[in-house]
Amino acid sequence: MKYLDVDGIGKVSRIGLGTWQFGSREWGYGDRYASGAAGDIVQRALGLGVTLFDTAEVYGLGKSERILGEALGDRRDKVAVASKIFPVAPLPAVVKQRAQASARRLQLDRIPLYQVHQPNPVVPDSVIMPGMRELLDSGKIGAAGVSNYSLTRWRKADAALGRPVISNQVHFSLAHPGALDDLVPFAERENRVVIAYSPLAQGLLGGKYGVDNRPGGVRAVNPLFGTENLRRIEPLLQTLRTVAAEVNAKPAQVALAWLISLPGVVAIPGASSVEQLEFNVAAADIELPAQSREALTKAARAFRPTSTRQFLTDTVREKLSRR
Ligand SMILES: NC(=O)c1ccc[n+]([C@@H]2O[C@H](COP(=O)([O-])OP(=O)(O)OC[C@H]3O[C@@H](n4cnc5c(N)ncnc54)[C@H](OP(=O)(O)O)[C@@H]3O)[C@@H](O)[C@H]2O)c1
Repeated sequence: MKYLDVDGIGKVSRIGLGTWQFGSREWGYGDRYASGAAGDIVQRALGLGVTLFDTAEVYGLGKSERILGEALGDRRDKVAVASKIFPVAPLPAVVKQRAQASARRLQLDRIPLYQVHQPNPVVPDSVIMPGMRELLDSGKIGAAGVSNYSLTRWRKADAALGRPVISNQVHFSLAHPGALDDLVPFAERENRVVIAYSPLAQGLLGGKYGVDNRPGGVRAVNPLFGTENLRRIEPLLQTLRTVAAEVNAKPAQVALAWLISLPGVVAIPGASSVEQLEFNVAAADIELPAQSREALTKAARAFRPTSTRQFLTDTVREKLSRR
């Protein structure tokens, strides 16, 4: 495993574990996953040196935090647990109360990284950040982060906090490489962290899905799994397969290795099994040749998905034609 040393948090593994899947209906993994596999995945992750575990108060309406806190056992206060507040009415008293509720579900006294889940479109960061600052000053959180923030808004959040907002968790993968343009250079320059979510494009970069084999649940409404996008992404998947064969790895591992080859970037893939977790962790040890990294970046930039509107129109048309 490779690590970043992050102010206020400590050792952060470049491959973490995303736990939206834990106890959430959206993924359709069911009760057996929530009460069995999820805990096994966390245990194995700990054993393999993973220190970053990402959750949120909204995942399974608190279930993800509870399952994660329980599964971490007595290691829970020794790793970098990251949770998120959904910023509805984020006045300081609300922020403090919600952080306390998350900490209780996680069985922690202090949350190492506490993130604002989304930029609130109507409430500026000058409202939410004083609450985050109080949490930092009282030691209830180790560091403050944001999620889904543009670079402009990240800087505004810095100003509102009165100190650096250490991380920004964003949608970032070979299939969604926009963070390369501004967030990654900023993180490198300012010694911040970009946390890549959906780093496997919700499993699409694992290479097993296609027009005749699409996942359900939340992924049924992910435009990337639409017919036209599955066609458009094929050259990128082909590049991924070629590089995977060169370095003797799986496509999903190459997708993760590409992300963490970038300065200041860590990835938090979710996993539906212990085996997937093991493959994902092993991606930290893959050194991609410069030429392969460039080929992947070029293929990522060349992928142009259809608009969400086009995806919805196509999906309705396909459903009607099947009647
Ligand atoms: N801040 C935000 O707004 C936000 C938004 C989304 C996610 N997140 C966080 O980011 C985490 C990860 O994102 P995500 O779960 O959306 O997507 P992801 O990590 O890209 O995809 C996870 C899914 O990919 C498949 N997979 C995992 N490892 C694989 C492997 N080695 N080979 C093939 N397939 C593999 C599994 O699904 P199957 O086996 O079922 O195919 C797994 O559930 C979440 O758990 C959450 O913590 C944050």
